[in-house]
Amino acid sequence: MADALPLSGRKCVVTGGSRGIGAAVVRMVLAQGADVAFGYHHSSDRAEALRDELRTAYPEQRCTALPGEVSDGAGAEKFAAEALKSLGGGLDVLVNNAGITRDISFARMRREQWDEVIDTNLGSMFNVTRPLVMPLVKQRNGTVINITSASGIHGAPGQTAYSASKSGIIGFTKALAKEVGGLGVTVNAVAPGFIHTDMTAAIPEQHADRLKSMIPTQEFGSADDVAALVCFLASDRARYITGQVIEISGGLVL
Ligand SMILES: NC(=O)c1ccc[n+]([C@@H]2O[C@H](COP(=O)([O-])OP(=O)(O)OC[C@H]3O[C@@H](n4cnc5c(N)ncnc54)[C@H](OP(=O)(O)O)[C@@H]3O)[C@@H](O)[C@H]2O)c1
Repeated sequence: MADALPLSGRKCVVTGGSRGIGAAVVRMVLAQGADVAFGYHHSSDRAEALRDELRTAYPEQRCTALPGEVSDGAGAEKFAAEALKSLGGGLDVLVNNAGITRDISFARMRREQWDEVIDTNLGSMFNVTRPLVMPLVKQRNGTVINITSASGIHGAPGQTAYSASKSGIIGFTKALAKEVGGLGVTVNAVAPGFIHTDMTAAIPEQHADRLKSMIPTQEFGSADDVAALVCFLASDRARYITGQVIEISGGLVL
């Protein structure tokens, strides 16, 4: 008999699954045998197209796209409830991926820009994780994977709000790992460097070339590179890893 896939039967929730890293995670967890409910904010067309494509490719598995604005507490709670329902109850893997940048020098930043970034990137950790942590704890088995950033570890100019929000995710990850480790739930953070998605597409080519020359591997990573790490952390092979921040950046800072 063929070996079971690494995520066979796992129930996963992914935020911001309509594009970029989130969409790559949705594709890869399904390919590895999981059932998925993923959220989107503005990109309903892309989310529905992805859902339809994946339902055709994996007809035996559940794949649901749901509106999931993560900076809004009530909306996130509704998303969490509907995601659980669509998975038939129970949860094994939560991937907190949704995030935004609003790059601007700190001296010119308006309070609304700061709030938007903090509410989306860090507020979402509360809004989405709080309603979903109990189903994980009840099973005495599960994992939370939070997408932070190399900027949250090292800081980045023009990204004070973003770096602060992503550092906050690291503190949240470590504290929650300590709270729920004894209850069978692991919590880790993945910290990408420069990854080819819409988020980095706006970087002018000359600047991108300069950045690449500073990365030991001399290239940006792909969304699949990050998804592969997320899938590993979601699998049993990572069962003894918790409270860690795993940088995936081609060695950006060594
Ligand atoms: N790309 C990089 O180089 C890089 C590096 C380090 C960390 N990261 C982190 O990786 C994660 C994914 O980034 P990405 O590069 O894939 O970005 P992306 O291509 O811009 O995609 C962002 C995703 O987040 C969703 N999203 C944004 N705001 C949301 C909100 N308020 N509620 C719900 N969903 C929301 C978007 O949904 P809609 O399109 O439906 O609105 C989209 O699916 C982010 O947390 C980002 O900070 C990325």
